Amino acid sequence: MDNFKFHVYTEIFFGKGEIKNLPATLGKYGKNVLFAYGGGSIKKNGIYEQVMELLSETFNVVEFANIEPNPTLDSVKRGVALCRNHSIDVILAVGGGSVIDCTKAVAAARYYEGDPWDLVLDSRKITKALPIVTVLTMAGTGSEMNRGSVITNKEKMLKLGMGAPVTMPQATVIDPTYLFTLPPIQTAAGAADTFSHVLESYFKKGEDAFIQDKMSEAVMLTVIKYAPIAIKEPENYAARANLAWASSLALNGLTGNGKSGAWSIHAIEHELSAYYDLTHGVGLAILIPAWLKHILNEQSVDRIAALGVNVFKISDQQDKFEIAKKTIGAMEQFFASLGIPMRLTDVGIDEEKFELMAEKAVKYGALKHAYVPMTKEDVIQIYQLCK
Ligand code: NZQ
Ligand code: ZN
Repeated sequence: MDNFKFHVYTEIFFGKGEIKNLPATLGKYGKNVLFAYGGGSIKKNGIYEQVMELLSETFNVVEFANIEPNPTLDSVKRGVALCRNHSIDVILAVGGGSVIDCTKAVAAARYYEGDPWDLVLDSRKITKALPIVTVLTMAGTGSEMNRGSVITNKEKMLKLGMGAPVTMPQATVIDPTYLFTLPPIQTAAGAADTFSHVLESYFKKGEDAFIQDKMSEAVMLTVIKYAPIAIKEPENYAARANLAWASSLALNGLTGNGKSGAWSIHAIEHELSAYYDLTHGVGLAILIPAWLKHILNEQSVDRIAALGVNVFKISDQQDKFEIAKKTIGAMEQFFASLGIPMRLTDVGIDEEKFELMAEKAVKYGALKHAYVPMTKEDVIQIYQLCK
């Protein structure tokens, strides 16, 4: 197992009604709060009113609304201007990964005089950030308990990750009842995203990180058990609670630390959602089976087969390549059973940009350091398998 540093300082308030901790938590940082949210789901489901009721008497609340899915650099700039003009002390992000990610970039760019895009291109330039508190409304990205943020630059057609120790949320409220109103496709996409995060860890280099791999398998088993329940019964508390906690644990370093190499699937997906504004989790679900088919060889077969036996309960009493193929089939079937469109053509993506996206994925995703190293041609073949 490789050396690593693990310092996840986010305080978690988990469970129904835990939003009551918001005033005391925000109060540690000051009175001027930037209240960030997305396109309006929180106004429909009542979370907006709850937040305002808790804060309006004690705090000066400045609203930062309409943060879009796959948040853009323009939104980041809008947030930075609000922070500067209103002497903001703390940012409250209420939403899913897009809202939380946008606020991380805003928090850091608040203290940077140049173009915020510089910080995306080089996170070492992040030296200071405003404190961030989050209220999670969509499980999947894990952004509520990690430092990462993914920002889209529409001018340059780039969607890239950034992050530094100071951009990790100070505290997060995870109330599973806030997830009750998620539409089935977002529930499914979030589940696929959580699944993919531990899959990326599972397929990093380092065969002796046994405890990390077993935790990854536990997250995958949780998604397989509870995602279908949450889709069928959106107000099933146990399902929402398990999916939400799985989301946070899947990408806070617990399963990826101690293993080396670059991720494989996310860089290939980020190109799709940059060019086509595709829902991140949908793109991942389409790509994962194709990527596994593409990398299946003598080097990877044991790992894929282990996944099949331990997670998809495929019998180990057969040839390992047979197990691996059944594993890929089972995974594809699982995502499809959640209602996710499983072909790129189903989501309106044709071949036109395959080459361009493949080139960028390899360049920005460091895919030559992936579990199975990938070239531009490999990525094009993976896109082709998804048509
Ligand atoms: O904008 P509103 O109106 O709030 O609607 C949102 C949005 O349309 C809706 N929604 C959220 N909570 C809801 C709800 N609708 C009803 N009830 C609720 N309780 O869901 C839609 C999607 O929300 P979004 O925040 O975009 O989804 P997600 O959490 O999947 O975030 C996706 C972004 O995070 C990035 C992705 O690339 C993408 O840009 N990622 C961030 C990561 C990180 N920070 O660590 C890692 C991930 O791998 C990922 O790349
Ligand atoms: Zn993801």
